[in-house]
Amino acid sequence: MNPLPPATIELFPARSVATVPDRLFGSFVEHLGRCVYGGIYEPGHPAADANGHRRDVIDLTRELGVTVVRYPGGNFVSAYRWEDGVGPREKRPRRLDPAWGTVEANQYGTNEFISWCRAAGAEPMMAVNLGTRGVQEALDLVEYCNHPGGSTLSDLRRAHGHAEPHNIRLWCLGNEMDGTWQTGHKTPLEYARLASETARAMRQFDSKLELVLCGSTHSEMPTFLEWDRIGLEHCYEDVDFISLHRYFGRCNGDLRTFFYQAEEMDRQIRAVIATCDHVQAKVRSKKKILLSFDEWNVWDVGFCNPEGYQRWDEAPDQLAEHYSAADALLFASMMHSLLRHCDRVRAACLAQLVNVIAPIRAESGGAAWRQTIFHPFALIARHARSGRVIPQYSSGPTEQIPGINLGQPCAVLDSVAVMNDATGILTLFALNRHASDGLPLNVKIPNHAGWRLLEHTELSASEPLAKNSADHPDEVIPRPARFRIQPDGGNWSTQLPPASWHVLRFQT
Ligand code: AHR
Repeated sequence: MNPLPPATIELFPARSVATVPDRLFGSFVEHLGRCVYGGIYEPGHPAADANGHRRDVIDLTRELGVTVVRYPGGNFVSAYRWEDGVGPREKRPRRLDPAWGTVEANQYGTNEFISWCRAAGAEPMMAVNLGTRGVQEALDLVEYCNHPGGSTLSDLRRAHGHAEPHNIRLWCLGNEMDGTWQTGHKTPLEYARLASETARAMRQFDSKLELVLCGSTHSEMPTFLEWDRIGLEHCYEDVDFISLHRYFGRCNGDLRTFFYQAEEMDRQIRAVIATCDHVQAKVRSKKKILLSFDEWNVWDVGFCNPEGYQRWDEAPDQLAEHYSAADALLFASMMHSLLRHCDRVRAACLAQLVNVIAPIRAESGGAAWRQTIFHPFALIARHARSGRVIPQYSSGPTEQIPGINLGQPCAVLDSVAVMNDATGILTLFALNRHASDGLPLNVKIPNHAGWRLLEHTELSASEPLAKNSADHPDEVIPRPARFRIQPDGGNWSTQLPPASWHVLRFQT
Protein backbone atom coordinates (compact mmCIF):
# COMPACT_ATOMS: atom_id res chain seq x y z
CA MET A 1 0.00 0.00 0.00
CA ASN A 2 1.30 3.42 -0.94
CA PRO A 3 -0.04 6.03 1.54
CA LEU A 4 -1.31 9.41 0.38
CA PRO A 5 -0.62 12.61 2.35
CA PRO A 6 -2.84 12.63 5.45
CA ALA A 7 -6.40 13.93 5.63
CA THR A 8 -7.70 15.73 8.73
CA ILE A 9 -11.27 16.04 9.96
CA GLU A 10 -12.15 18.48 12.71
CA LEU A 11 -15.56 17.77 14.27
CA PHE A 12 -17.83 20.21 16.15
CA PRO A 13 -20.29 18.08 18.15
CA ALA A 14 -21.76 21.06 20.03
CA ARG A 15 -22.97 22.63 16.77
CA SER A 16 -25.61 21.45 14.28
CA VAL A 17 -26.25 21.36 10.56
CA ALA A 18 -29.71 19.80 11.02
CA THR A 19 -31.55 17.01 12.79
CA VAL A 20 -31.63 13.81 10.79
CA PRO A 21 -35.22 13.24 9.62
CA ASP A 22 -36.62 9.74 10.09
CA ARG A 23 -37.94 9.92 6.54
CA LEU A 24 -34.39 10.00 5.15
CA PHE A 25 -34.36 6.21 5.49
CA GLY A 26 -37.19 5.46 3.09
CA SER A 27 -37.45 2.84 0.37
CA PHE A 28 -39.69 2.07 -2.57
CA VAL A 29 -42.00 -0.78 -3.61
CA GLU A 30 -43.17 -0.67 -7.23
CA HIS A 31 -45.31 -3.11 -9.16
CA LEU A 32 -42.27 -4.05 -11.18
CA GLY A 33 -40.42 -7.32 -11.65
CA ARG A 34 -40.48 -9.43 -8.49
CA CYS A 35 -40.67 -6.56 -6.02
CA VAL A 36 -44.32 -7.10 -5.05
CA TYR A 37 -45.06 -10.61 -6.39
CA GLY A 38 -42.33 -12.92 -5.10
CA GLY A 39 -40.81 -10.09 -3.06
CA ILE A 40 -42.91 -8.69 -0.25
CA TYR A 41 -45.88 -10.94 -1.23
CA GLU A 42 -45.60 -14.67 -1.85
CA PRO A 43 -48.57 -16.62 -0.53
CA GLY A 44 -47.58 -20.25 -0.15
CA HIS A 45 -43.99 -19.40 0.82
CA PRO A 46 -43.03 -21.14 4.09
CA ALA A 47 -42.40 -17.73 5.70
CA ALA A 48 -45.67 -16.15 4.49
CA ASP A 49 -48.11 -14.80 7.08
CA ALA A 50 -51.92 -14.96 6.81
CA ASN A 51 -51.84 -12.01 4.35
CA GLY A 52 -49.30 -13.73 2.09
CA HIS A 53 -46.53 -11.35 3.21
CA ARG A 54 -43.10 -12.92 3.60
CA ARG A 55 -42.07 -12.53 7.23
CA ASP A 56 -38.40 -13.06 6.34
CA VAL A 57 -38.61 -10.00 4.05
CA ILE A 58 -40.42 -7.99 6.73
CA ASP A 59 -37.69 -8.93 9.23
CA LEU A 60 -34.96 -7.80 6.83
CA THR A 61 -36.88 -4.58 6.10
CA ARG A 62 -36.94 -3.85 9.84
CA GLU A 63 -33.26 -4.74 10.17
CA LEU A 64 -32.49 -2.41 7.27
CA GLY A 65 -34.17 0.38 9.25
CA VAL A 66 -36.68 1.47 6.59
CA THR A 67 -39.00 4.20 7.86
CA VAL A 68 -41.19 5.15 4.88
CA VAL A 69 -42.07 3.27 1.68
CA ARG A 70 -43.19 4.82 -1.61
CA TYR A 71 -45.83 2.90 -3.63
CA PRO A 72 -47.08 1.77 -6.23
CA GLY A 73 -44.62 3.39 -8.68
CA GLY A 74 -42.48 4.66 -10.35
CA ASN A 75 -43.32 4.43 -14.00
CA PHE A 76 -46.02 1.88 -13.15
CA VAL A 77 -48.23 4.47 -11.45
CA SER A 78 -48.66 6.54 -14.61
CA ALA A 79 -51.19 4.14 -16.15
CA TYR A 80 -52.44 2.56 -12.91
CA ARG A 81 -56.12 2.39 -11.95
CA TRP A 82 -56.11 2.04 -8.17
CA GLU A 83 -59.66 0.65 -8.20
CA ASP A 84 -58.32 -2.49 -9.95
CA GLY A 85 -56.32 -3.40 -6.84
CA VAL A 86 -59.06 -3.32 -4.18
CA GLY A 87 -61.99 -5.61 -3.37
CA PRO A 88 -62.37 -9.36 -3.83
CA ARG A 89 -59.28 -10.77 -5.53
CA GLU A 90 -61.21 -13.02 -7.91
CA LYS A 91 -62.96 -9.98 -9.39
CA ARG A 92 -59.83 -7.92 -10.01
CA PRO A 93 -58.92 -7.37 -13.68
CA ARG A 94 -55.74 -8.41 -15.45
CA ARG A 95 -54.25 -5.37 -17.16
CA LEU A 96 -51.36 -4.68 -19.49
CA ASP A 97 -48.77 -2.41 -17.87
CA PRO A 98 -47.33 -0.22 -20.65
CA ALA A 99 -44.42 1.02 -18.50
CA TRP A 100 -42.74 -2.35 -18.04
CA GLY A 101 -44.40 -4.43 -20.77
CA THR A 102 -45.90 -6.92 -18.34
CA VAL A 103 -49.28 -8.22 -17.20
CA GLU A 104 -50.49 -6.86 -13.86
CA ALA A 105 -52.81 -9.39 -12.22
CA ASN A 106 -53.87 -6.94 -9.47
CA GLN A 107 -53.75 -9.58 -6.77
CA TYR A 108 -52.04 -6.95 -4.64
CA GLY A 109 -53.15 -3.37 -4.11
CA THR A 110 -53.54 -0.42 -1.76
CA ASN A 111 -55.08 -2.21 1.25
CA GLU A 112 -52.58 -5.07 1.16
CA PHE A 113 -49.73 -2.57 0.95
CA ILE A 114 -51.00 -0.59 3.95
CA SER A 115 -51.23 -3.83 5.97
CA TRP A 116 -47.66 -4.63 4.94
CA CYS A 117 -46.46 -1.14 6.01
CA ARG A 118 -48.03 -1.62 9.44
CA ALA A 119 -46.29 -5.01 9.79
CA ALA A 120 -42.96 -3.56 8.64
CA GLY A 121 -43.25 -0.48 10.88
CA ALA A 122 -43.02 1.88 7.90
CA GLU A 123 -45.02 4.94 6.88
CA PRO A 124 -46.72 4.70 3.45
CA MET A 125 -45.94 7.32 0.79
CA MET A 126 -48.56 7.03 -1.92
CA ALA A 127 -48.21 8.21 -5.52
CA VAL A 128 -51.22 9.27 -7.61
CA ASN A 129 -51.46 8.74 -11.36
CA LEU A 130 -51.05 12.05 -13.21
CA GLY A 131 -50.08 10.32 -16.47
CA THR A 132 -53.35 8.88 -17.77
CA ARG A 133 -55.55 10.26 -14.97
CA GLY A 134 -56.09 13.44 -13.02
CA VAL A 135 -57.78 15.39 -10.25
CA GLN A 136 -60.89 13.24 -9.82
CA GLU A 137 -59.10 9.89 -9.56
CA ALA A 138 -56.60 11.35 -7.08
CA LEU A 139 -59.46 12.70 -4.96
CA ASP A 140 -61.24 9.35 -5.12
CA LEU A 141 -58.15 7.55 -3.86
CA VAL A 142 -57.71 10.02 -0.99
CA GLU A 143 -61.36 9.58 -0.02
CA TYR A 144 -61.10 5.79 -0.24
CA CYS A 145 -57.96 5.74 1.91
CA ASN A 146 -58.40 8.54 4.41
CA HIS A 147 -62.09 9.32 4.98
CA PRO A 148 -63.45 7.56 8.09
CA GLY A 149 -66.82 6.55 6.59
CA GLY A 150 -70.26 7.73 5.49
CA SER A 151 -69.34 8.36 1.84
CA THR A 152 -69.47 5.87 -1.02
CA LEU A 153 -65.74 5.36 -1.37
CA SER A 154 -64.90 5.34 2.34
CA ASP A 155 -67.72 2.84 2.90
CA LEU A 156 -66.33 0.77 0.06
CA ARG A 157 -62.99 0.57 1.93
CA ARG A 158 -64.89 -0.48 5.05
CA ALA A 159 -66.73 -3.13 3.02
CA HIS A 160 -63.31 -4.31 1.87
CA GLY A 161 -62.40 -5.09 5.47
CA HIS A 162 -60.66 -1.86 6.53
CA ALA A 163 -62.91 -0.11 9.03
CA GLU A 164 -60.28 2.40 10.09
CA PRO A 165 -59.01 5.02 7.61
CA HIS A 166 -55.44 4.52 6.42
CA ASN A 167 -54.53 8.15 7.23
CA ILE A 168 -51.83 8.43 4.57
CA ARG A 169 -50.08 11.78 5.05
CA LEU A 170 -47.46 11.82 2.29
CA TRP A 171 -48.50 11.86 -1.40
CA CYS A 172 -46.53 12.15 -4.65
CA LEU A 173 -48.16 14.11 -7.49
CA GLY A 174 -47.23 11.66 -10.27
CA ASN A 175 -43.85 10.25 -11.21
CA GLU A 176 -41.07 11.56 -13.50
CA MET A 177 -43.59 13.45 -15.62
CA ASP A 178 -40.74 15.25 -17.46
CA GLY A 179 -39.55 11.97 -19.04
CA THR A 180 -40.63 11.00 -22.55
CA TRP A 181 -40.68 7.36 -21.34
CA GLN A 182 -43.43 8.21 -18.88
CA THR A 183 -46.96 7.16 -19.87
CA GLY A 184 -48.80 10.47 -20.25
CA HIS A 185 -45.56 12.52 -20.30
CA LYS A 186 -46.27 16.26 -20.00
CA THR A 187 -44.68 19.55 -20.95
CA PRO A 188 -43.59 21.65 -17.94
CA LEU A 189 -46.67 23.86 -18.21
CA GLU A 190 -49.11 20.98 -18.68
CA TYR A 191 -47.73 19.25 -15.60
CA ALA A 192 -47.60 22.42 -13.53
CA ARG A 193 -51.29 23.13 -14.18
CA LEU A 194 -52.38 19.56 -13.48
CA ALA A 195 -50.25 19.28 -10.34
CA SER A 196 -51.57 22.58 -9.02
CA GLU A 197 -55.22 21.62 -9.61
CA THR A 198 -54.68 18.19 -8.04
CA ALA A 199 -52.80 19.56 -5.04
CA ARG A 200 -55.49 22.15 -4.34
CA ALA A 201 -58.28 19.59 -4.60
CA MET A 202 -56.45 17.15 -2.32
CA ARG A 203 -55.92 19.92 0.20
CA GLN A 204 -59.59 20.88 0.05
CA PHE A 205 -60.14 17.37 1.34
CA ASP A 206 -57.44 17.65 4.01
CA SER A 207 -55.23 20.72 4.37
CA LYS A 208 -52.62 18.72 6.30
CA LEU A 209 -51.70 16.30 3.50
CA GLU A 210 -47.99 16.59 2.65
CA LEU A 211 -47.57 16.80 -1.10
CA VAL A 212 -44.55 16.11 -3.31
CA LEU A 213 -44.29 17.91 -6.65
CA CYS A 214 -42.46 16.02 -9.42
CA GLY A 215 -39.16 17.75 -10.00
CA SER A 216 -36.77 16.98 -12.85
CA THR A 217 -35.95 13.29 -13.06
CA HIS A 218 -32.22 14.06 -12.93
CA SER A 219 -29.73 16.75 -13.82
CA GLU A 220 -29.07 15.50 -17.39
CA MET A 221 -32.68 16.12 -18.43
CA PRO A 222 -32.95 18.83 -21.14
CA THR A 223 -35.49 20.74 -19.03
CA PHE A 224 -33.52 20.41 -15.75
CA LEU A 225 -34.35 23.32 -13.40
CA GLU A 226 -36.71 24.98 -15.92
CA TRP A 227 -39.15 22.15 -15.23
CA ASP A 228 -38.67 22.66 -11.48
CA ARG A 229 -39.00 26.44 -11.68
CA ILE A 230 -42.22 26.32 -13.69
CA GLY A 231 -43.74 23.63 -11.46
CA LEU A 232 -42.86 25.58 -8.31
CA GLU A 233 -44.14 28.88 -9.67
CA HIS A 234 -47.55 27.26 -10.18
CA CYS A 235 -47.67 25.18 -7.01
CA TYR A 236 -45.47 26.92 -4.45
CA GLU A 237 -48.04 27.30 -1.68
CA ASP A 238 -49.81 24.02 -2.49
CA VAL A 239 -46.91 21.57 -2.04
CA ASP A 240 -44.32 20.84 0.64
CA PHE A 241 -41.67 18.89 -1.27
CA ILE A 242 -40.14 18.67 -4.73
CA SER A 243 -38.78 15.30 -5.90
CA LEU A 244 -35.31 14.38 -7.18
CA HIS A 245 -34.12 11.03 -8.57
CA ARG A 246 -30.61 9.74 -9.30
CA TYR A 247 -29.01 6.47 -10.35
CA PHE A 248 -25.29 5.90 -10.97
CA GLY A 249 -24.09 3.00 -13.13
CA ARG A 250 -22.75 -0.11 -11.39
CA CYS A 251 -19.03 -0.85 -11.18
CA ASN A 252 -17.44 -2.55 -14.17
CA GLY A 253 -14.11 -2.99 -12.39
CA ASP A 254 -12.57 0.42 -13.18
CA LEU A 255 -12.38 2.14 -9.80
CA ARG A 256 -10.40 5.25 -10.73
CA THR A 257 -13.43 7.55 -10.99
CA PHE A 258 -16.19 5.28 -9.70
CA PHE A 259 -16.48 6.42 -6.07
CA TYR A 260 -16.49 10.11 -6.94
CA GLN A 261 -19.83 10.07 -8.75
CA ALA A 262 -21.87 11.11 -5.71
CA GLU A 263 -20.30 14.58 -6.13
CA GLU A 264 -22.87 14.95 -8.91
CA MET A 265 -25.63 14.14 -6.43
CA ASP A 266 -24.40 16.95 -4.16
CA ARG A 267 -24.42 19.26 -7.15
CA GLN A 268 -27.94 18.21 -8.18
CA ILE A 269 -29.22 18.86 -4.64
CA ARG A 270 -27.57 22.29 -4.47
CA ALA A 271 -29.02 23.26 -7.86
CA VAL A 272 -32.56 22.25 -6.87
CA ILE A 273 -32.29 24.09 -3.54
CA ALA A 274 -31.15 27.21 -5.41
CA THR A 275 -34.15 26.91 -7.75
CA CYS A 276 -36.59 26.47 -4.83
CA ASP A 277 -35.15 29.54 -3.10
CA HIS A 278 -35.20 31.55 -6.32
CA VAL A 279 -38.93 30.83 -6.69
CA GLN A 280 -39.52 31.52 -2.99
CA ALA A 281 -38.07 34.99 -3.43
CA LYS A 282 -39.98 35.52 -6.67
CA VAL A 283 -43.39 34.56 -5.24
CA ARG A 284 -42.52 36.32 -1.95
CA SER A 285 -43.35 33.32 0.21
CA LYS A 286 -42.30 32.69 3.80
CA LYS A 287 -42.21 28.96 3.19
CA LYS A 288 -39.15 26.84 2.27
CA ILE A 289 -39.74 23.95 -0.12
CA LEU A 290 -38.19 20.69 1.08
CA LEU A 291 -36.54 18.06 -1.09
CA SER A 292 -37.79 14.48 -1.40
CA PHE A 293 -34.98 12.39 -2.95
CA ASP A 294 -37.46 9.64 -3.58
CA GLU A 295 -35.48 7.43 -5.94
CA TRP A 296 -31.75 6.85 -5.60
CA ASN A 297 -29.41 3.91 -6.01
CA VAL A 298 -26.66 2.34 -8.09
CA TRP A 299 -28.19 0.96 -11.31
CA ASP A 300 -27.31 0.79 -14.99
CA VAL A 301 -30.52 2.39 -16.12
CA GLY A 302 -31.92 0.22 -18.93
CA PHE A 303 -35.60 0.62 -19.00
CA CYS A 304 -37.02 -2.57 -20.39
CA ASN A 305 -34.04 -4.90 -20.04
CA PRO A 306 -35.64 -7.25 -22.57
CA GLU A 307 -33.42 -10.33 -22.19
CA GLY A 308 -34.65 -13.23 -20.13
CA TYR A 309 -38.36 -12.65 -20.27
CA GLN A 310 -41.15 -12.35 -22.78
CA ARG A 311 -43.22 -9.25 -23.31
CA TRP A 312 -46.46 -9.41 -21.30
CA ASP A 313 -45.09 -11.95 -18.82
CA GLU A 314 -46.46 -11.71 -15.29
CA ALA A 315 -43.95 -10.52 -12.63
CA PRO A 316 -40.79 -11.52 -14.56
CA ASP A 317 -37.40 -11.09 -12.89
CA GLN A 318 -36.81 -7.53 -14.17
CA LEU A 319 -34.01 -5.22 -13.02
CA ALA A 320 -32.61 -7.94 -10.75
CA GLU A 321 -29.39 -6.01 -10.18
CA HIS A 322 -26.64 -7.95 -8.40
CA TYR A 323 -24.45 -5.59 -6.36
CA SER A 324 -20.70 -5.70 -5.76
CA ALA A 325 -18.52 -4.46 -2.91
CA ALA A 326 -17.57 -1.41 -5.00
CA ASP A 327 -21.24 -0.61 -5.63
CA ALA A 328 -21.81 -0.63 -1.86
CA LEU A 329 -19.14 2.03 -1.34
CA LEU A 330 -20.59 4.38 -3.96
CA PHE A 331 -23.99 3.71 -2.36
CA ALA A 332 -22.58 4.76 1.06
CA SER A 333 -21.28 7.93 -0.51
CA MET A 334 -24.77 8.70 -1.89
CA MET A 335 -26.10 8.37 1.65
CA HIS A 336 -23.41 10.78 2.88
CA SER A 337 -24.72 13.27 0.35
CA LEU A 338 -28.31 12.89 1.63
CA LEU A 339 -27.14 13.35 5.22
CA ARG A 340 -24.99 16.37 4.39
CA HIS A 341 -28.04 18.12 2.94
CA CYS A 342 -30.63 16.90 5.41
CA ASP A 343 -31.52 20.45 6.41
CA ARG A 344 -33.43 20.50 3.07
CA VAL A 345 -33.59 16.84 2.00
CA ARG A 346 -36.25 15.81 4.52
CA ALA A 347 -37.36 12.60 2.78
CA ALA A 348 -35.55 10.04 0.63
CA CYS A 349 -36.37 6.60 -0.80
CA LEU A 350 -33.85 3.99 -1.80
CA ALA A 351 -35.14 2.47 -5.04
CA GLN A 352 -36.15 -0.21 -4.51
CA LEU A 353 -36.64 -2.62 -1.59
CA VAL A 354 -36.76 -6.23 -2.79
CA ASN A 355 -35.48 -8.04 -5.93
CA VAL A 356 -35.68 -4.97 -8.22
CA ILE A 357 -32.46 -2.87 -7.90
CA ALA A 358 -32.69 -3.78 -4.25
CA PRO A 359 -30.81 -4.36 -1.00
CA ILE A 360 -32.88 -7.51 -0.29
CA ARG A 361 -33.13 -10.54 -2.57
CA ALA A 362 -35.90 -13.04 -1.98
CA GLU A 363 -35.60 -16.40 -3.73
CA SER A 364 -38.88 -17.82 -4.94
CA GLY A 365 -39.85 -20.45 -2.35
CA GLY A 366 -36.40 -19.99 -0.79
CA ALA A 367 -34.32 -17.73 1.41
CA ALA A 368 -34.13 -13.95 1.58
CA TRP A 369 -30.61 -12.50 1.77
CA ARG A 370 -28.73 -9.22 2.02
CA GLN A 371 -27.01 -7.67 -1.02
CA THR A 372 -23.81 -5.68 -0.43
CA ILE A 373 -25.71 -2.37 -0.44
CA PHE A 374 -27.87 -3.57 2.45
CA HIS A 375 -25.00 -3.01 4.88
CA PRO A 376 -24.24 0.69 4.48
CA PHE A 377 -27.95 1.51 4.52
CA ALA A 378 -28.54 -0.50 7.71
CA LEU A 379 -25.48 0.94 9.48
CA ILE A 380 -26.24 4.54 8.56
CA ALA A 381 -29.94 4.19 9.41
CA ARG A 382 -29.07 2.62 12.77
CA HIS A 383 -26.42 5.13 13.79
CA ALA A 384 -27.66 8.37 12.20
CA ARG A 385 -31.37 8.14 13.00
CA SER A 386 -32.44 10.45 15.85
CA GLY A 387 -29.16 12.33 15.61
CA ARG A 388 -27.97 15.70 14.32
CA VAL A 389 -25.55 16.16 11.46
CA ILE A 390 -22.69 18.24 12.85
CA PRO A 391 -20.30 20.59 11.07
CA GLN A 392 -16.85 19.36 10.12
CA TYR A 393 -13.79 20.96 8.57
CA SER A 394 -11.75 18.59 6.49
CA SER A 395 -8.60 18.90 4.47
CA GLY A 396 -6.40 16.44 2.65
CA PRO A 397 -5.36 15.09 -0.74
CA THR A 398 -7.45 15.66 -3.84
CA GLU A 399 -7.75 14.03 -7.26
CA GLN A 400 -8.69 15.54 -10.63
CA ILE A 401 -11.51 13.29 -11.83
CA PRO A 402 -12.38 13.36 -15.54
CA GLY A 403 -16.12 13.74 -16.11
CA ILE A 404 -16.86 15.21 -12.67
CA ASN A 405 -17.54 18.81 -13.39
CA LEU A 406 -17.00 20.62 -10.09
CA GLY A 407 -14.52 23.19 -11.37
CA GLN A 408 -12.01 21.90 -8.82
CA PRO A 409 -10.38 18.60 -7.88
CA CYS A 410 -12.32 16.20 -5.64
CA ALA A 411 -11.26 15.42 -2.06
CA VAL A 412 -10.18 11.79 -1.68
CA LEU A 413 -11.94 11.65 1.69
CA ASP A 414 -15.74 11.72 1.74
CA SER A 415 -17.16 11.99 5.26
CA VAL A 416 -20.13 13.06 7.35
CA ALA A 417 -20.64 13.02 11.13
CA VAL A 418 -23.72 12.66 13.33
CA MET A 419 -24.12 13.37 17.06
CA ASN A 420 -26.82 11.60 19.04
CA ASP A 421 -27.48 13.65 22.20
CA ALA A 422 -29.61 10.97 23.85
CA THR A 423 -26.85 8.36 23.77
CA GLY A 424 -23.83 10.69 23.78
CA ILE A 425 -22.51 8.85 20.71
CA LEU A 426 -20.78 10.63 17.87
CA THR A 427 -20.58 8.63 14.63
CA LEU A 428 -18.23 9.46 11.79
CA PHE A 429 -18.84 7.85 8.38
CA ALA A 430 -15.72 8.06 6.19
CA LEU A 431 -14.87 6.78 2.72
CA ASN A 432 -11.43 6.61 1.12
CA ARG A 433 -12.33 7.05 -2.54
CA HIS A 434 -8.82 6.37 -3.80
CA ALA A 435 -8.69 3.17 -5.85
CA SER A 436 -5.14 2.13 -5.00
CA ASP A 437 -3.68 4.22 -2.15
CA GLY A 438 -4.22 4.16 1.60
CA LEU A 439 -5.26 7.43 3.27
CA PRO A 440 -3.80 8.37 6.68
CA LEU A 441 -6.56 10.07 8.70
CA ASN A 442 -6.46 12.34 11.76
CA VAL A 443 -9.69 13.08 13.58
CA LYS A 444 -9.88 16.06 15.95
CA ILE A 445 -12.69 16.22 18.50
CA PRO A 446 -12.83 18.99 21.13
CA ASN A 447 -12.11 17.73 24.66
CA HIS A 448 -10.23 14.76 23.21
CA ALA A 449 -9.74 12.99 26.54
CA GLY A 450 -13.49 12.90 27.20
CA TRP A 451 -14.19 10.50 24.30
CA ARG A 452 -13.65 6.78 24.02
CA LEU A 453 -13.86 4.65 20.92
CA LEU A 454 -16.83 2.26 20.89
CA GLU A 455 -16.45 0.75 17.45
CA HIS A 456 -14.49 1.04 14.23
CA THR A 457 -16.09 -1.00 11.45
CA GLU A 458 -14.96 -1.21 7.84
CA LEU A 459 -16.61 -2.25 4.59
CA SER A 460 -13.91 -2.96 2.05
CA ALA A 461 -13.92 -3.13 -1.73
CA SER A 462 -10.41 -4.67 -1.85
CA GLU A 463 -12.10 -7.22 -4.11
CA PRO A 464 -14.26 -4.69 -5.92
CA LEU A 465 -16.46 -7.13 -7.82
CA ALA A 466 -17.11 -9.50 -4.89
CA LYS A 467 -20.83 -10.10 -4.35
CA ASN A 468 -23.15 -11.83 -1.92
CA SER A 469 -25.44 -14.60 -3.14
CA ALA A 470 -28.03 -17.02 -1.80
CA ASP A 471 -25.27 -19.61 -1.27
CA HIS A 472 -22.69 -17.11 0.05
CA PRO A 473 -24.75 -14.36 1.71
CA ASP A 474 -21.87 -13.04 3.84
CA GLU A 475 -19.11 -12.66 1.26
CA VAL A 476 -19.19 -8.85 1.58
CA ILE A 477 -20.10 -7.65 5.08
CA PRO A 478 -18.83 -4.98 7.48
CA ARG A 479 -15.91 -6.24 9.59
CA PRO A 480 -13.73 -4.82 12.39
CA ALA A 481 -11.39 -2.26 10.83
CA ARG A 482 -7.98 -3.50 9.71
CA PHE A 483 -6.34 -0.40 11.27
CA ARG A 484 -8.43 0.46 14.30
CA ILE A 485 -8.30 4.19 15.06
CA GLN A 486 -6.00 5.05 18.02
CA PRO A 487 -5.55 8.07 20.31
CA ASP A 488 -2.56 9.98 18.99
CA GLY A 489 -1.45 13.03 20.97
CA GLY A 490 -4.53 15.24 21.15
CA ASN A 491 -6.18 13.53 18.13
CA TRP A 492 -7.22 10.15 16.87
CA SER A 493 -5.42 8.61 13.94
CA THR A 494 -5.75 5.68 11.58
CA GLN A 495 -5.15 4.54 8.03
CA LEU A 496 -8.08 4.08 5.63
CA PRO A 497 -7.12 1.35 3.13
CA PRO A 498 -7.87 2.12 -0.54
CA ALA A 499 -11.53 1.74 -1.52
CA SER A 500 -12.85 1.30 2.00
CA TRP A 501 -15.77 2.76 3.96
CA HIS A 502 -15.66 3.22 7.76
CA VAL A 503 -18.03 3.69 10.66
CA LEU A 504 -16.28 5.18 13.71
CA ARG A 505 -18.30 5.55 16.89
CA PHE A 506 -17.10 7.58 19.87
CA GLN A 507 -18.86 8.05 23.17
CA THR A 508 -18.50 10.88 25.59
O1 AHR B 1 -37.01 2.49 -9.99
C1 AHR B 1 -37.14 2.09 -11.32
C2 AHR B 1 -37.71 3.17 -12.20
O2 AHR B 1 -36.78 4.21 -12.32
C3 AHR B 1 -38.96 3.86 -11.71
O3 AHR B 1 -40.11 3.18 -12.06
C4 AHR B 1 -38.90 5.18 -12.40
O4 AHR B 1 -39.56 6.19 -11.67
C5 AHR B 1 -37.43 5.44 -12.57
O5 AHR B 1 -37.13 5.89 -13.84
